[in-house]
Amino acid sequence: MKKNSHTKIIDVQGISKVFTLHERDSTQVSGFSDVHFSVNRGELLALTGVSGAGKSSILKSIYRTYLVQSGKILFHRSDKSVVDLATCTESQVLQLRKREIGFVTQFLKILPRISALQAVAAPLMETGVSEQTSLYLAADLLSRLGIREELFHISPLTFSGGEQQRVNIARGIIAPKDLILLDEPTASLDEQSSDRVLSLLEDLKEKGIAMIGIFHDRKKIKRAADKTYELTRKNNEKPFPTILEAA
Ligand SMILES: Nc1ncnc2c1ncn2[C@@H]1O[C@H](COP(=O)(O)OP(=O)(O)O)[C@@H](O)[C@H]1O
Ligand SMILES: [Mg+2]
Repeated sequence: MKKNSHTKIIDVQGISKVFTLHERDSTQVSGFSDVHFSVNRGELLALTGVSGAGKSSILKSIYRTYLVQSGKILFHRSDKSVVDLATCTESQVLQLRKREIGFVTQFLKILPRISALQAVAAPLMETGVSEQTSLYLAADLLSRLGIREELFHISPLTFSGGEQQRVNIARGIIAPKDLILLDEPTASLDEQSSDRVLSLLEDLKEKGIAMIGIFHDRKKIKRAADKTYELTRKNNEKPFPTILEAA
């Protein structure tokens, strides 16, 4: 039985986003509109839909890299207080990003000359865990993700796309979080590496961690997701949600 599996962690209520391109005569581009879903602790919701449907923008809005124009994003903290990520202050957002909400972006962004082990251990060390323990756990995660030990002390900027992606995932999940957002975590991975990532995500669910992940492959969604939310966008129409189902 998953920990806390019936406790809601996030409730997205009718959010919409329009981008105004100021450098282009204030042209408006719709990001997504009227998006509704909720996720419980220990659940993974798969966000799916064609390219440009607004999936990454939804994750960025939850992480508050983007601001939505309407709707609510209610985040239920473990102390039972509720924060609306659509309207809360920047300092509340920074606070939540420390231990509660994590984001595995699509591409690894790190400084040159930092080894793979250091890159992965850093977010854990920032929470006060010792360097030795952080490096040990980083090595364990990288091994689980199939990164060869000979690469541990090399800069991941020299790695292949799929290797960089796995370093990025390890870096994004090493420090404890309650909700993790994952932008296409298996996009450029072969079958075996995808399998390793999905099994790691399954372990996180068992620990009661909630996730919202962007996935395209139906088989992966079926295996990992508890719910699916599909966005569609036809030609120039606004995107609209079509499915909200339990898998
Ligand atoms: N920062 C931005 N400025 C302007 N338009 C953006 C920005 N981010 C996303 N968009 C637009 O919003 C739409 C959805 O993009 P995105 O969320 O990246 O889609 P997806 O991840 O589903 O492929 C696209 O039409 C994209 O051009
Ligand atoms: Mg995207």
